[in-house]
Amino acid sequence: MQVLIKGARIIDPGKIDGKKDILIKDHLICAIVDPEDTRIRADIEIIDATGMVVVPGLIDIHVHLREPGEEYKETIKTGLLAAVRGGFTAVCPMPNTNPVNDNRQVTQFIINRAAKLGLSKVYPVGAITQGLLGVTLAQIYDMKQAGIVAVTDDGNPLENSKLMRQALEYCKGLNIPIFVHAEDTCLVDGGSMNEGSFARLLGIKGIPNAAETVMVARDILLAELTGAGVHFCHISTKESVEAIRQAKKRGANVTCETAPHYFTLIDEDVKNDDTNFKMNPPLRAEQDRLAVIQGLLDGTIDLIASDHAPHSVKEKDVEFDRAAFGIVGLETSLPLSLNLVHEGILTMGDLVNKMAKQPAKIIGINNDIKPGNVADLTIIDSDVSYAIDPETFKSRSKNTPFSGRKVKGRAFLTMVNGKVVYRNDT
Ligand code: DOR
Ligand code: ZN
Ligand code: ZN
Repeated sequence: MQVLIKGARIIDPGKIDGKKDILIKDHLICAIVDPEDTRIRADIEIIDATGMVVVPGLIDIHVHLREPGEEYKETIKTGLLAAVRGGFTAVCPMPNTNPVNDNRQVTQFIINRAAKLGLSKVYPVGAITQGLLGVTLAQIYDMKQAGIVAVTDDGNPLENSKLMRQALEYCKGLNIPIFVHAEDTCLVDGGSMNEGSFARLLGIKGIPNAAETVMVARDILLAELTGAGVHFCHISTKESVEAIRQAKKRGANVTCETAPHYFTLIDEDVKNDDTNFKMNPPLRAEQDRLAVIQGLLDGTIDLIASDHAPHSVKEKDVEFDRAAFGIVGLETSLPLSLNLVHEGILTMGDLVNKMAKQPAKIIGINNDIKPGNVADLTIIDSDVSYAIDPETFKSRSKNTPFSGRKVKGRAFLTMVNGKVVYRNDT
């Protein structure tokens, strides 16, 4: 079976930017042809993508799929349905499941379950320490053999600097990065939103910027000490952005991501008791939001990942300080990020870099649009305007602060292994 994606602009930054058609045969990109090319056979399935943009499949390297263990929040299936609807051809689930993904069996379970679904591809991230307890290293080698692409103790930051050093040295040998959830839990001290005048106004205990930045600083030093790759998750403070900028200038082996909420919202947007505005790290001040945008612009922030963190009403419909941290993101990440393009801050090429190419590089895959490569592609309709409606989410959870927000652009079609796994027909 052959498929021709016709009429679109293809963007693969630094490689292609122009009106071309893409011929797909079986699961591979077979040829990139001029729209006038008449050699194309008549019995081909045509995908009319006139006015759309075709890009290398988007990859979200930071999601929580909750299975095994918390299937009432999300399953691998509902999470991947959300992923393909959001335009993602691959995702990296974090290990804070129950049981924790700290061993080969859990890694294999996740990979096998995802493979059977045939939706987005799944590249799991394993735990650094057994049970995310920060005491003993997990079975990192075994998990690597089973298919993990990185390790992290996301949600339970590793406090023991010596153990962190050992983990970095070990992972350097395995050639995988450590994803760091940079948080000093002593400085957080039970806080639940950004520390500052707004938290005081609401009577909510604050979390200082330093809770993130001291750990960013520590792990930059440990990355430089060991030469191992450190990838900082969900960067939210201006001081972290600056520390990473300087570290990169020195040649440290560090990369980082931010999430759409950190360049879209600030602490002043936190509505009194709406726990859908509660996530970790918290929404910061306007100066932090601007620093995050500047970091995206100058390349300090390599990529955008959603930190898709589904929670049920049970964890969210409680007082702010008792609610779970986290918001869903797979189905809002692309439109919120496209806003940076509509505002003239990033080019479409920059966006593709941040949402497809850099994520691929970090997990060691190649998603170039070129003949012979697997046809993992996202077709974006960047012009359609609509309001975000959590009732339309495929995710099992609806915990988003973006309900009702007007946005422009979304995935029109998601193709994985040459197969259409999602098409927007509304
Ligand atoms: O907001 C968050 N939610 N931050 C984390 O680090 C963990 C995550 C979760 O698992 O819900
Ligand atoms: Zn985290
Ligand atoms: Zn996370």
